Amino acid sequence: MNCYQKEDLIKMVEDAKQLTQKGKVADYIPALGEADPSTLAVAIYSGERECIYAGNIDEVFTLQSISKVLTLALALMDRGADYVFQRVGMEPTGDPFNSISKLESSVPSKPLNPMINAGALAVTDMLVGNTIEDKLERLLNFIRQLTGNDRITYNPVVAQSEFETADLNRSLCYFMRQHGIVESNVEQLINLYTKHCAIEMNCNDLAKLGFVIGNEGRDPNSDQNIIPLEIARIVKTFMVTCGMYNASGEFAIKVGIPAKSGVSGGILGSVPHGVGIGIYGPALDDKGNSIGGLRLLELIAKQSNLSIF
Ligand code: DON
Repeated sequence: MNCYQKEDLIKMVEDAKQLTQKGKVADYIPALGEADPSTLAVAIYSGERECIYAGNIDEVFTLQSISKVLTLALALMDRGADYVFQRVGMEPTGDPFNSISKLESSVPSKPLNPMINAGALAVTDMLVGNTIEDKLERLLNFIRQLTGNDRITYNPVVAQSEFETADLNRSLCYFMRQHGIVESNVEQLINLYTKHCAIEMNCNDLAKLGFVIGNEGRDPNSDQNIIPLEIARIVKTFMVTCGMYNASGEFAIKVGIPAKSGVSGGILGSVPHGVGIGIYGPALDDKGNSIGGLRLLELIAKQSNLSIF
């Protein structure tokens, strides 16, 4: 693998940034609509010293669907794979991330995978804790460990903005409750889900977290196994097959890195035994992936031969 030069990274950001004009910031969650579409930032972490980065690295953003990777890891640690996969499938979907249609047509009715909204809501329902606050605190502590940043928390304005407008996600929950996939009170589940989607960090934090997942769950700084090896493998596999929504196939061919995106414009990349990558670019393409972020990952992967295939 080539070494990363900051100058190269700055050039790649400048190049990819041109595409941001063609994208659109998500506004179905009103608070996300306020982001500056021309922003593009990246951090790469290889386990030593600091990340190298380019773009406005201090900008924080909410994880949105990137949190699905972390809730899945924690639910698998809490409940074990048998329990989780009795309720959520392992197969990719060509449908949009918030689609309800497969829930009705699959027999038995269970979400296709944990990276779409239905699957993530079911996984959120599995987290262990006596109250919503307990569950959120456990998840936050897990993420603080993975990033090495004790100050990680959620953005209450973005969480509330999604909570007030999450009727499609409520519909998915009611459907799944009818079919015994979800057990909690739906409002409480949406409360927890919108808060974990609103967990905030910058690209450095995201790159560090991506490194630990790529490194089979082991943090090189503390030498601690934060995620068991088997679970880190499951998570990375879902990132490859379902991480970029219904663009995951094309992404695997063009980039070939386990990755997960969110509608805030974040992308998490985890190169096995390699580097962690954190990207933020809120202008999205029509499938909900960061348009500049995708191009940037393509350039980085090509330059450093990062594809796992
Ligand atoms: O549930 C939602 O719609 C958002 N909180 C997250 C969506 C997102 O990032 C794309 N999902 N796979």
